[in-house]
Amino acid sequence: MSPGGRLAGVAIAAVLVATAFASERPTAAADGPGAALWLSGLVDGRPIGARLGPQGPELRGAAVACARCHGAEAEGGGEGAARAPALLRRGARRPALDAEALARALEEGIGLDGRALHPAMPRYALAPELHAALLAELDRIGRRAVEGVESRRLRLATVWPNPAARAALRPLIERHRALLEAEGGLVHREIELLLLPAEPEAALRRLETEPALALLLDDAPPALLAALRARGLPELFPIRPQIGPEPATVRRLGAPRLVEARLLAEAMAEDLGGRGRFRLLADPALEAELEPTLARWPELARSEAEADALLLLTPAPAGALAVPRLYAPVDLLARLATPLPAAVEALVVTDPRALPPGSPAPSERARALVGEAEAAGPLVRHATAALLLLETALRRLGRDVTRARLLGALDELGLVTTGLVPPWSSRPGREAGAALLRLDRPSGARRVDPWRRPGDPPPAARPSKE
Ligand code: HEC
Repeated sequence: MSPGGRLAGVAIAAVLVATAFASERPTAAADGPGAALWLSGLVDGRPIGARLGPQGPELRGAAVACARCHGAEAEGGGEGAARAPALLRRGARRPALDAEALARALEEGIGLDGRALHPAMPRYALAPELHAALLAELDRIGRRAVEGVESRRLRLATVWPNPAARAALRPLIERHRALLEAEGGLVHREIELLLLPAEPEAALRRLETEPALALLLDDAPPALLAALRARGLPELFPIRPQIGPEPATVRRLGAPRLVEARLLAEAMAEDLGGRGRFRLLADPALEAELEPTLARWPELARSEAEADALLLLTPAPAGALAVPRLYAPVDLLARLATPLPAAVEALVVTDPRALPPGSPAPSERARALVGEAEAAGPLVRHATAALLLLETALRRLGRDVTRARLLGALDELGLVTTGLVPPWSSRPGREAGAALLRLDRPSGARRVDPWRRPGDPPPAARPSKE
């Protein structure tokens, strides 16, 4: 990393830590006049007054805040004749509730169906623009509600078909929630984690009744993933490698597969001295994207049979891997069901979990979160980084959280250094790279190349450190 890049990374890490500890008190004004009126009975910071019945006593401020009776999410509240009805249904304003109907209810005590309202509904004399602001606030509450965001709570959904991931991540997320709770919530909201069933229909039904802002997703069966993606929920977990194109709602923390593929192709070409035969196992999309990289070595020829090296970028049976030199992302090899053929003498794997040299130490908050689980490995590190980034983005948004704004806020974080995972930015960019681990199988010697990005010059002298 250039000194400038390093500095930027450290500065962002400092911001990350600073914002993680700042107890932000978002002003209601940031939400517009409707929010202050709805939640606190305030206009320009001053309490409004309203009467209970035409000649009734005047009450002020919080006592006549709409949310006090109708509920913070306009879901309705109270009992019996004095029950304040819901003003929203499934995220939408009740059809009859327009500016005129609102004015009639507030000023004359006439309900949406034309009947006289119970005196428990106060009488207000508000400027017409405040009626408009109230309706806008109701619309906003409705939009948030269908995205799992309430005034005091925010819902994230997850699915962990893999029991090991579940065992590692569940305690981490609980620790994070406990930490936030001790601090009074994340911008006054508590975080609820909804564990979705693995069966697609059931998962969607669950999201219908309990909408979620985003998915904390490490891995999911393809059918479930497709169903969830069709819902447009942002995906915030991170290390399942990206292989083909994916929706614009995915934010991941690992090196994208193309970056790993280019690094491995470059290492292979360099090791072979730019000539010889190699075999490529990849899905067509990745193969096409890799074309320009391989074209840099015209004397390196593809061969389906005899080859000096294999570039393995898609799961393959062990039998297909019998070549002297094998280049592959580490997670693919980790999923091999059978031992690697003895014919493989040199093994070069990308390890997207390795940190570039000079990475800052994790923040105290990160250490508190990772906790004892540090030894548990890369999944927990990535998950911790993801939670910290999510937290930082949410703090920046203050109260007005929507899926689109969350994705925007994550993107605005730019290149982030957590000290837990390689420098991260929400979309693959120049900064994405990885470290290559080299294993000489006959001698058992291991070597880790310096962390590098595709297109970087080859490491001059390879240090023989672990
Ligand atoms: C002290 C409690 C209370 C407060 C504060 C309050 N309401 Fe009400 N509201 C009620 C009750 C109770 C009803 C239902 C009365 C009935 O059904 O006869 C009602 C009814 C309504 C209705 C008519 C709904 C329908 O189905 O006809 C609207 C609209 C309404 N409120 C809007 C508001 C708004 C906007 C505010 C804030 C400016 C507000 N209310 C503040 C108690 C309250």
